[in-house]
Amino acid sequence: MNEDILFRPYKPSDPIPEITALLHRAYAKMARQGMRYLASHQDDKTTQERLAHGTSFLAIKGGAIVGTISVYGPYPGSEVLFYRREGVYHFGQYAVDPTLQGTGLGKRLYQTVEDHCRKNNVKTLALDTAETADHLIALYQRWGFCIVDRVKWDEVNYKSVIMAKELNG
Ligand SMILES: CC(C)(COP(=O)(O)OP(=O)(O)OC[C@H]1O[C@@H](n2cnc3c(N)ncnc32)[C@H](O)[C@@H]1OP(=O)(O)O)[C@@H](O)C(=O)NCCC(=O)NCCS
Repeated sequence: MNEDILFRPYKPSDPIPEITALLHRAYAKMARQGMRYLASHQDDKTTQERLAHGTSFLAIKGGAIVGTISVYGPYPGSEVLFYRREGVYHFGQYAVDPTLQGTGLGKRLYQTVEDHCRKNNVKTLALDTAETADHLIALYQRWGFCIVDRVKWDEVNYKSVIMAKELNG
């Protein structure tokens, strides 16, 4: 499935409003369910900063951007102690167009990030998501992640779980 989809790194010339619109579409269902992820309503400046701050990948189908994911190195200034640790990368701004969700595209995007981390000898890959997003927590557990911490960010209306998976060594 999805053989006609190209996966490639994000470039500064990519159209930010198209990526913001994709994020809003992808996260709309979660927002309707009461989990107001930043990606459901963030502006273009935030999208651009989050894309450029990490290493980001896009999925392209017929010229349209249909998926995105970003991965970040250790954040010495993070509120999350776990994200400050040496060797810990985390991913986010992760979305697939609603018309293609459930077709295996998200898993391939995630695999792009895991492969990138393994190549760069990243020890631990982590993520955060709403503690009430049972389907996402179950999905990440199937992919080998465990809950390692919890945090409440001011920007969102839910408490988050931090999940992590050991990759190398
Ligand atoms: C999360 C997201 C990026 C995953 O992308 P996707 O293309 O839908 O995922 P895939 O089709 O590759 O499926 C991934 C897994 O979810 C399962 N899945 C997908 N859709 C499902 C559904 N409707 N019901 C139950 N399971 C489902 C698949 O079986 C697969 O499980 P497996 O890896 O154990 O086989 C995408 O659904 C999305 O954009 N969601 C909204 C934004 C979001 O929640 N982002 C993550 C925030 S932390």
